[in-house]
This record gives sequence, structure tokens and C-alpha cells, in this order.
Amino acid sequence: MKHILLGVSGGIAAYKAAELVRLLRKQGCEVQVVMTESAMQFISPLTFQALSGHPVHTELLNADAENAMSHINLARWADVLLIAPATANTLAKCSHGLADDLLSTLYLAAQCPVYVAPAMNQAMWHKTVTQANIATLKTHGVIIIDPEAGEQACGESGIGRMAEPASICAQLLAEPVTQYLHGVRVLISAGSTREPLDPVRYITNRSSGKMGYALAKAAVKAGATVTLVSGPVNLAAPDSVELLRVETAAEMYAAVMANTQNCDIYIGAAAVADYSPTMQPQKIKKHASQSTIILQKTKDILASVANLDLPPFTLGFAAETHDLEAYAQKKLQEKNLDMIAANWVGREQGGFDSEQNALQVFWATGQKTLAMIDKTQLAEQLMLLCAERFNEKNTI
Ligand code: C5P
Repeated sequence: MKHILLGVSGGIAAYKAAELVRLLRKQGCEVQVVMTESAMQFISPLTFQALSGHPVHTELLNADAENAMSHINLARWADVLLIAPATANTLAKCSHGLADDLLSTLYLAAQCPVYVAPAMNQAMWHKTVTQANIATLKTHGVIIIDPEAGEQACGESGIGRMAEPASICAQLLAEPVTQYLHGVRVLISAGSTREPLDPVRYITNRSSGKMGYALAKAAVKAGATVTLVSGPVNLAAPDSVELLRVETAAEMYAAVMANTQNCDIYIGAAAVADYSPTMQPQKIKKHASQSTIILQKTKDILASVANLDLPPFTLGFAAETHDLEAYAQKKLQEKNLDMIAANWVGREQGGFDSEQNALQVFWATGQKTLAMIDKTQLAEQLMLLCAERFNEKNTI
């Protein structure tokens, strides 16, 4: 049974840590909880005691606690130390080696793997000093479970929300992956594109880039060398990828085509604009009661890559509101792809801008359904499927 030592520091996301304890125990882990002084302002130790089945540890210098289990014994007990939520203050203390309360002292004493799930206001997350502290923690071997983008308790919106408990639990308990893409070069395009109408306006779509970014992370985890061509997104740059930022479909086309020679697998996960207006040099003024925008078809990046003389293995996406399989099969053949991952859009669950998705994956000789799940896990399943077909093609 895995022993998880959960450190809860003082942020509003502390309430999500209660759910985390429940999920971890459901997975058969034994959990002991350490709370900082300020965490107890947000949630009662009694909640964690009831959920974990153990008294909660809150003090560094407590005579009873020292007798029962000192911080050193507690650190020795742990197979994993997880700090969730980790506030900016706790991150700063850990990265600088301060040990002025039980949690920061445990961090210093821990010899087991340490996972940290930061949670804070988006401005605090973006602050240079916080990012420097994160970078320092990474050099200590700490695994950062990236915060997510979205609405925040403070009313702002951006990156800083603690990752969802289910996602933290999955990352913590994931089996060590085999490096099944070791030495393979993967090029991924992700996000939406912005097609400018004039200097202040543009046409775009609902793509969040989450799936493409999750695929980039899955490919890195599997040992690939990854280049990510990204349209405008509200996501943190994944670790260990070469990130090329673009805005328009034309820029994305140029960036992808410039990198096809160095790639074995190309994944077109971006929602590229199919049509683009001619940009007006000055702001369009309102006069007539109706206005017309003339749109020109953009170049199909995926089809261009798939039809190169020496194309890489190509995986495309098809987001459909109806006739999913028929459209996906048509795109697979017409664009000359090796594989296509189709998903429903415009439904309640899944699709653009959603945390979860389900995919119907097709290739010339088969198909597979990947059920509705968190995009991080879905990306890992799709990456594995893609690698299997890629290997099969290369051994034929
Ligand atoms: O034809 P449709 O746009 O539905 O195909 C979707 C797939 O094609 C996605 O993989 C998308 O990234 C790619 N695509 C592209 N360039 C375009 C339009 C779509 O690479 N201009």
C-alpha cells in the first residue's frame, strides 16, 4: 500500500484536498495529512482526520506529536510527499530551504519523490519570483503538477487554479512509463488561429489548445523530442518542448512546414481557420447597415504535410457536430492521413474548451474508441495508439 503524506497549505483550493484524500484512499493508498497554520483557516483538521482515518499533523514543536511521530519519522513513513494546494509562500519556503513549520521541515526531511500542485491568483503565479521558485524546485527534482487555467475564487481568470483532484491522483499513481518514443521526433500543432480583419479585430474559434498541449506532454513523457507550434492559448509552456508561437493560419503553415524535415510524427491538433479575410490596414468603420467580409480559403497544413514526398506519420483530428465517422473516414482518405482522431463538438460533455474528451480513432485497417476521460489521460492513450501504428508502419 502506498503511503502518501499530503501537505495542505493555506489557499482556497484546500477544500479540494479533501476530495483528493478520498480519491487516494479509494485507490488503496494510506494517507496522512499535514496542515499549515493558514490552511486551518480554510478547512478544519477534523475533515481530514475523518477522511484519512489518521489524526492530522499541524505542529512542528508539539511534545505529544514528537513522542508519537516526529517529523523525521513522518518523512520516513512517506512513499510520496504531495503538497496540494501549494501556495506561493509554501513554494518560496521550500525552494529556499526554510524550515519554520512542520510542512516546510518535512519537505527538507523528505527523501521520497515530492509532488507539488500550486494554487494561487494568476498574477501571483506569473510573477517572476514565483516562476523562479518553481524552476528551483524542479532542479531539486520536485515534480510540479501544473495549475490550470480558468475562473479563480478571487474573481479573476487565468492560470493558477489547482489541478483537479482526479488529475493529481492520476499523475501521482501513474506507473512509470516506458520511453516508447525514445529517439522519435514529434511535431504538434495546437490551439486556435487568429485571422485579423483589421488592426483591432480578428476571427477565431473555441479551441483551448488543451489536447495538443496534453499530447506534447505525453510525447515528452514517452521520450520523444517535441516541437510544439502553438496558436494563441491560455496555457503554460510544457516542459522540455521547443515551443514556436504563431497567430495566423499562414504563420502556422510556415512554422509547421519549416519543421517537417526533422520530424517522424506530425500531429495536427490545432483548430486552424479554414478561411481568412484580407486584413484591412485601418480599423473598419461602421457605415452601412450590412457589411460583408470576403474570406479566402487557407492552405490545409495537415494535407500539405501528409502529401510531402517523404511524409512523416500523420495524425489529424476531426471535430464534428454530425456524421462523425463518415466525415472522419473521408478526411483520413482525402487528406492521405495515417490516422484520425474524431470527436463530437457542440455537445454538453467534451470537445473544445472542455477538461474531458472522448475520441473515435480511425486508421486504414482499424479503429478504436477512447472513452470520455480527462484530456491528460486521453492524450496518453492516443499517443500510445499513435506510436503503435507508427512502429507498425515503420516495420512493414
Ligand atoms: O478539414 P478539417 O478542417 O475539418 O480537418 C481537421 C484537421 O485538419 C485537423 O487535424 C486540423 O489541424 C487540420 N487542418 C489543417 N489546416 C487547415 C485546416 C485544418 O491542418 N487549414
